[in-house]
Amino acid sequence: MTVSNTYSIEDYLNLSEKELDERITKARKSLDQRLLILGHHYQQDDVIKFADFRGDSLKLSQEAAKSAREFIVFCGVHFMAETADIVTGDNQKVILPDLTAGCSMADMADLYRVEKAWKEIANVAGEENVLPVTYINSSADLKAFCGKKGGAICTSSSAEKIMRWALGEREKVFFFPDEHLGRNSAIRSGIPEDEIILWHRDAPMGGNSEAEIKKAKVILWDGFCSVHMLFLPKHIEYFREKYPGVNIIVHPECRREVVELSDLCGSTEYIIKTVKAAPAGTVWAIGTEINLVNRLRKEQPDKTIFFLSTTVCLCSTMYRIDPQHLCWVLENLVEGNVVNRITVPEEEKRWAKIALERMLAL
Ligand code: 13P
Ligand code: SF4
Repeated sequence: MTVSNTYSIEDYLNLSEKELDERITKARKSLDQRLLILGHHYQQDDVIKFADFRGDSLKLSQEAAKSAREFIVFCGVHFMAETADIVTGDNQKVILPDLTAGCSMADMADLYRVEKAWKEIANVAGEENVLPVTYINSSADLKAFCGKKGGAICTSSSAEKIMRWALGEREKVFFFPDEHLGRNSAIRSGIPEDEIILWHRDAPMGGNSEAEIKKAKVILWDGFCSVHMLFLPKHIEYFREKYPGVNIIVHPECRREVVELSDLCGSTEYIIKTVKAAPAGTVWAIGTEINLVNRLRKEQPDKTIFFLSTTVCLCSTMYRIDPQHLCWVLENLVEGNVVNRITVPEEEKRWAKIALERMLAL
């Protein structure tokens, strides 16, 4: 009889960088074609170097959907691993190396409060006139809610397209959880500012009057990303003054004033592709998470790349995925132990998939 070992994370916390590197490499080799490691662009260098694919939320969910590998180790945050479980088959297992790697923005919207808001909006505007859209940075039950109600999921790279589609389908769009991505997409879709209202999640009627809800075309949940809130108009003014000709590129989770003052705006994948494709000698100031910016600076030495804010904007939850946790989950897999598996209940999966497919079809 063979007895398999179960390793505990405590055994990994004091390993040297060299030992972790060697052991992760060995475990990957041993799992070979059974394993796929996906890495979001905000991951630290010591983790992303082991990823088979790097990408933004959209690209990584597409890679997960294409893959037939048995184990998908997702170096990202919880909602990304859930999305991977939604799009993969029953024989595949999705693993998040540290279960505390959540997304603080996703946590700002929960099914109870979204359903309550939905009822209040429907009472005023009629359910048949409102379409829910959730940013992919949300829990699986909210994705399923959108699927059931005829709505869709969007990512940072598809938000504007989905907003235009949704506004064509129904009179009003209820967008959650990111106020800023929602507003930036609505404005780019031609919705005037006075037809966009904010839904304060803990206030009755979201803090709005019946007349305001009736008039609104877009209703935005009041969630935000604390990392992207740190980019301010004054940072852009500083760079424009100090480096005339600088190109400012930001993520659409930034507030509207920042997006409007920038030259370009898009997903993490878009930011990387744009800067890589730019001519040598160009100067860039980038408004997104610091690991991405620092890596791009190293990889593109022929360009001058600045981080747009004076505050260090680190996604602390992404940072929880470290080589120690990666090594721990991989060595357990080698032993036949699946630790930190992420599973979405079947019924939720089915509806969430419908919402996701509506986006992919567009
Ligand atoms: P991307 O889909 O652009 O990678 O964004 C995900 C995210 O969480 C940004 O904060
Ligand atoms: Fe969530 Fe913000 Fe981190 Fe993106 S950067 S995963 S939105 S907390």
